[in-house]
Amino acid sequence: MTKCYPTVSEEYQKSVEKAKRKLRGLIAEKNCAPLMLRLAWHSAGTFDVKTKTGGPFGTMKHPAELAHAANNGLDIAVRLLEPIKEQFPNLTYADFYQLAGVVAVEITGGPEIPFHPGREDKPHPPPEGRLPDATKGSDHLRQVFSVQMGLSDQDIVALSGGHTLGRCHKERSGFEGPWTTNPLIFDNSYFKELLSGEKEGLLQLPTDKVLLSDPVFRPLVEKYAADEDAFFADYTEAHLKLSELGFADA
Ligand code: HEM
Repeated sequence: MTKCYPTVSEEYQKSVEKAKRKLRGLIAEKNCAPLMLRLAWHSAGTFDVKTKTGGPFGTMKHPAELAHAANNGLDIAVRLLEPIKEQFPNLTYADFYQLAGVVAVEITGGPEIPFHPGREDKPHPPPEGRLPDATKGSDHLRQVFSVQMGLSDQDIVALSGGHTLGRCHKERSGFEGPWTTNPLIFDNSYFKELLSGEKEGLLQLPTDKVLLSDPVFRPLVEKYAADEDAFFADYTEAHLKLSELGFADA
């Protein structure tokens, strides 16, 4: 989709740069890059292309959206971010949460994802049930990512590589454990681990394993496992699209 980005004031742009530095500090201090990436993704991933509702518009700060089962634990992210947000009252939550996602990827060694400011905060959270269910198969992934969000098969596989960061927490999702042995480093090890099979101490969700059995997804997993630059290039494109769903559409 062609984008037509709004112009923001010089003062707003300066706040973005300063907030970026503060976010780097917070994420380094608290080792919370995975949670920040999950916050940005769950904020954006509710977008519905048909009704143009949901998406990265700052609604995650509302208790009603934090109470969605898929968002268990994201109240911690919102709370950690609040002292920085307070320093930049002119920034929208919409921009701020997506900026946190971009910084989380960059500071853990991942690609630098372009960031365009100017998202508005929307007043109403989306309905519950738009984020993917980890127990389901490839039809479900395509329903959520392609039909609902308007993304591609390649985006599904590249974005799943976000699980190179972080872990599952029993008390949040019912699953337990990290996908890789270095969950605070953004690299292509998620795809390498996926191909090398299940290992003690590491986890693969049903929706991760689906990437191996689907004939369109699997060649992409193999490509990203063999070529980190290819993963970073496709991840950058997919993350950028995700972070701008419903924003700046021409
Ligand atoms: C493909 C569909 C997806 C499913 C079904 C899924 C499911 C999950 C589940 C169940 C957790 C564990 C939450 C917890 O217990 O703390 C999780 C964590 C995580 N997800 Fe996903 N996810 C998906 C896609 C994505 C995408 C697209 C990204 C980002 C690009 C992402 C980034 C993360 C991160 C970074 C964590 C770790 C959070 C932490 O360590 O606190 N996920 N995901």
